[in-house]
Amino acid sequence: MLIINIKGLVGVHPKEKISLRGNEMANLPVLENAWLLLEDGLIKDFGLMSEIPSSILHLPSSINAKGKFVFPSWCDSHTHIVFAAPREEEFVMKIEGKTYEDIAAAGGGILNSAKKLEQATEDELFKRASLRLADMIKQGTGAVEIKSGYGLTVESELKMLRVIRRLKEAFPIPIKATLLAAHAYPLAYKENHKGYINLIIAQLLPLVAKENLADYIDVFCEKGFFSIAETDEILSAAAKYGLKPKIHANQLSISGGVQIGVKHNAISVDHLEETDNEVLSTLAHNETIATLLPSCSFYLDIPFANARGLINNSAKVAIATDYNPGSTPSGNMNFVVSLACIKLKMLPEEAINAATLNGAAAMELSNQMGSIAIGKKANLFITRAMPSLAFLPYSFGQSQIETVILNGEIYNG
Ligand code: NIG
Ligand code: FE
Repeated sequence: MLIINIKGLVGVHPKEKISLRGNEMANLPVLENAWLLLEDGLIKDFGLMSEIPSSILHLPSSINAKGKFVFPSWCDSHTHIVFAAPREEEFVMKIEGKTYEDIAAAGGGILNSAKKLEQATEDELFKRASLRLADMIKQGTGAVEIKSGYGLTVESELKMLRVIRRLKEAFPIPIKATLLAAHAYPLAYKENHKGYINLIIAQLLPLVAKENLADYIDVFCEKGFFSIAETDEILSAAAKYGLKPKIHANQLSISGGVQIGVKHNAISVDHLEETDNEVLSTLAHNETIATLLPSCSFYLDIPFANARGLINNSAKVAIATDYNPGSTPSGNMNFVVSLACIKLKMLPEEAINAATLNGAAAMELSNQMGSIAIGKKANLFITRAMPSLAFLPYSFGQSQIETVILNGEIYNG
């Protein structure tokens, strides 16, 4: 497939650039008035219209993208899209003044989702997650990470991970699976934390490893959930099975999760709605990516992460949706990019880099995703005609995406 007359080909980073830190994030190379050739599911070549070889110009099935931009697909590196049912009753409780912690303490929250998930079959979960994922793809997402964590028993956690495995097989995009059994203490272990941790370590981890069901390990390191010592123990056990951490840290309080994640060479530490100088200096010049989830802050009405502090301290910043039924019932990366600009004060270039190349890096996919480079996967989207790049985040809540291309082919879902 050939795309011609592209107003702006976005994210033309050198192929060896596989993540961006600090100041580098403001650099989003855009090739103006360009062509792009896709072949065998990959990016074959691109260049300026003024220099297009005539042999290429005569290829069949070309798309004319006059006035339009071509972006590499969004890379959504943090989601929980396998769940049985939405929780809009909690939405109303929140409006009435209850906090996320109040709702969780009253038996709502994650435990509520776990109860519903236990009753759902693998087929039902697969169908419901498939609808969500198809919607996300239509909104421009071309790679995704999905967590377990609404099982909280050996059987149900495995059920969730098997659903993710089926999604990997059924969808034409890269998907990474993360074991988040340490998402909350199930009621049966409310007073027996040791018992639940032993269950994760001695029973669940070996089964997950045997079936090769997870790529990463996650822990909700937070007051009232998993402590530093508990997180440490789980990450150490998972490391023996080769599972690297991507963890929930500092969502509701300064939990120490960032430091423990970095100690375990986490791929990413996610959320960071609460930050202090120690967090900033821990992530400064570090390989661990800070993944910020502004639509979670928006929905829960909690502080927005200190993206400027992180960028100024030369951290690597990614942004993702956190799509889940409790804290972020939305998988729309376009809205996340807008919020990153509006609320995190990221420049459009920084937000787009955070949602593409750094998002890919937060799933260890940036050798094949996240930018326009020869040999990378042809997962991208074409916008409507737009006056400029900044128009995309500026026009928040409205989709500017006209055509989604996955593996070099138009996706109609
Ligand atoms: O990332 N914070 C922990 N996990 C999810 C919310 C889970 C839920 O409320 O169902 C999150 O925000
Ligand atoms: Fe999350």
